[in-house]
Amino acid sequence: MSSKINTIGVLTSGGDAPGMNAAVRAVVRRGIAKGKLIKGINRGYAGMLKEEIQDMDARSVCNILQRGGTFLESERCPEFELEEMQDKAIDICRKHGIDALVVIGGDGSFRGAQKLAGKGLNVIGIPGTIDGDIGCTDYTIGFDTAVNTAMHAIDNIRDTASSHEKCSIIEVMGRNAGHIALWCGIANGAEQVLIPEKFDYNEVKVLQKIVKNRENGKKNNIIINAEGIGDTPKMAKRISAIGNISIRTTILSYIQRGGVPTCKDRVFASVMGAKAVDLLCEGACNRVVAYKDGQFVDFDIDEALEMRGGISEYMYEILEDLSM
Ligand code: ADP
Ligand code: F6P
Repeated sequence: MSSKINTIGVLTSGGDAPGMNAAVRAVVRRGIAKGKLIKGINRGYAGMLKEEIQDMDARSVCNILQRGGTFLESERCPEFELEEMQDKAIDICRKHGIDALVVIGGDGSFRGAQKLAGKGLNVIGIPGTIDGDIGCTDYTIGFDTAVNTAMHAIDNIRDTASSHEKCSIIEVMGRNAGHIALWCGIANGAEQVLIPEKFDYNEVKVLQKIVKNRENGKKNNIIINAEGIGDTPKMAKRISAIGNISIRTTILSYIQRGGVPTCKDRVFASVMGAKAVDLLCEGACNRVVAYKDGQFVDFDIDEALEMRGGISEYMYEILEDLSM
């Protein structure tokens, strides 16, 4: 248990997210302040399996708070789903004296941590993903920066779409979740938002709404697609063809995943990193740090992974009224 914890490992895993650096910095410095040794593991579980492990001191995390991405780097490591790889990771942790591991990533990364917890390693998860789709928490590191970056990009598209009376479809990230699309939909006053949780794949209906908006005096239309609904350029071509209208497609892709973290992402990530260390120092382990109903809290990792989130039904319901 964590009263015996001397050495804490920290890694970032899955898609990088702005604010991850702030979380790593907080784990390192709060850990040192509490008398722990800290080891940084490069490239997520992939780097762990290759023993890319370095000792961290307070100066190792200088000048990273304000940077996007993750200086520890991140990677997807599908072979980590194999039990033999998890056993190998446990042996490597033992060899390097790591008796607790802080995993900063999405729910896939937490599943990896859960497997290691099942094999006796103390783990703490910190939610880091721009997708905002982790059920146990109202906040994930990187979401705030990503939606702000996407919002500014869509504002630019709206300027030119209105000058030329165009229809634009913009694809935002979010894997199978529509949070980024929905938030931008409200922030950018989008005429339509197509998200996997709701879209019925009726493209004629999408076209009819564009036409109706024009009849109602709207000179431009902004449609925001969550990437999870499928191939946006192909969809735009089909709608253009049936409606004989010109549609410009923009895929924001990594533009919204990189970039300088917002104040909220720096502060929340810092608090979550410090809380991860505090939990270990208090004797808690196999927890996920979360932000729920206005409080920083923590959940058992098994329970956290069972919790279902989902989009705000109310935000979705009001969206089209607000852009009428
Ligand atoms: P995220 O953490 O952002 O959800 P992924 O789903 O890609 O991103 O997961 C990141 C990594 O976590 C994977 O590449 C893999 O190494 C590990 N992982 C995901 N699911 C599992 C699992 N069921 N068991 C073990 N490791 C997993
Ligand atoms: O999970 C973050 C995310 O950016 C998702 O929104 C997206 O589906 C995915 O990662 C893309 O991952 P990559 O291009 O790194 O494989």
